[in-house]
Amino acid sequence: MFLMRTRSWNNNSLLLILCLTGLYLQTNGIMVLIPHDVVSATVDESVILSVEYRCNGVPTIRWKQLSAWGMKNIITWEPDNYQNISESYEDRIQEFRNGSIQLSNVQLYDAGCYVVTVTDKEGSSRDGVIVLNVNEPVDKDLNFVVVAATILLTISIVLMFFLWVCNQSVKLCKKKRRAQNKLLQIWNYHHFNVA
Ligand SMILES: *[C@@H]1O[C@H](CO)[C@@H](O)[C@H](O)[C@H]1NC(C)=O
Ligand SMILES: *[C@@H]1O[C@H](CO)[C@@H](O)[C@H](O)[C@H]1NC(C)=O
Repeated sequence: MFLMRTRSWNNNSLLLILCLTGLYLQTNGIMVLIPHDVVSATVDESVILSVEYRCNGVPTIRWKQLSAWGMKNIITWEPDNYQNISESYEDRIQEFRNGSIQLSNVQLYDAGCYVVTVTDKEGSSRDGVIVLNVNEPVDKDLNFVVVAATILLTISIVLMFFLWVCNQSVKLCKKKRRAQNKLLQIWNYHHFNVA
């Protein structure tokens, strides 16, 4: 009886340990967190493709661009060990400890899907995807045209106001003169009549 009880306790604790181990493995599996899965950048600017990851041991982080021409490797690195950057990205990529990358001098052809893969030593991996939109900058010539048009419009409004003021004062002068003339006429009339 006593022996049986011990055995059942042993079974339970074994189960509990198994569960805890499972939970431990699960919470310590690879996780890839992406705060913004769609980001925008303007041509010639730089953009951060931001991720965060959790992984047992030292991971390998790999970024690729998915486009109409297929998958293109961007960068593969193992923190504190090595990094391998594709030729076409050599001068414009910077990686961060949290797995994020910064792409500088963004061009229109950079728009598309970016896939990050975090792989652990056992070979398990997790992917994350970020969509990058690239906007064309506001044309500098167009900017100049807008500024010039605004200045011209302002000048013409000021001129129109000035003309209106002139016109009003001319009208006022005419009115005054007419009134004076009338007075003069009345005066003359009386004067000559009296004479
Ligand atoms: C990762 O690090 C970079 C650079 O420090 C930072 O800009 C970015 O926001 C970080 N990403 C996350 C998800 O914390
Ligand atoms: C870096 O990439 C090149 C070309 O893809 C490859 O031949 C080389 O083995 C890579 N190096 C490492 C350390 O992964």
